[in-house]
Amino acid sequence: MKWLLVLVLVPTLVLAADPKKKEEAKPDPAAVAAGAKLYMEKTCSACHGKDAKTPIMPDYPRLAGQNAGYAERQMLDIKSGARANGNTAAMKGIMPLVNEAEIKSLAVYLSSLQ
Ligand code: HEC
Repeated sequence: MKWLLVLVLVPTLVLAADPKKKEEAKPDPAAVAAGAKLYMEKTCSACHGKDAKTPIMPDYPRLAGQNAGYAERQMLDIKSGARANGNTAAMKGIMPLVNEAEIKSLAVYLSSLQ
């Protein structure tokens, strides 16, 4: 039974350590650059902070390093109204300023931050 565990675990660990995989996970530099520009232009920094981790209110979220897919989904949901809780109203007023492609770039940019 133990051998079975080793047979399953070893290849999993080897695959997880594959350096090529890390390469693929790197965010697209063009999207990062576009997102960085939008982040300043569309006033995101006014609430979330220039570095995306010093929000103006203690209960506003830090965004730096968030998963791109998650951040994109949240922005789309806040824009559409599917997410409407807590302080969402503050954020919703800004969302008409960004389209879906811009939201994607913003999400990639935020995920690239430490
Ligand atoms: C007027 C203040 C304000 C502005 C401007 C603003 N946000 Fe927000 N944002 C918020 C608040 C407050 C929340 C939390 C909403 C809630 O409680 O549901 C939020 C939530 C988010 C979330 C979801 C975070 C999470 O962890 O779920 C993301 C991503 C985000 N904002 C990105 C942006 C981007 C990108 C911009 C610029 C296009 C922006 N915000 C502009 C106030 C703002």
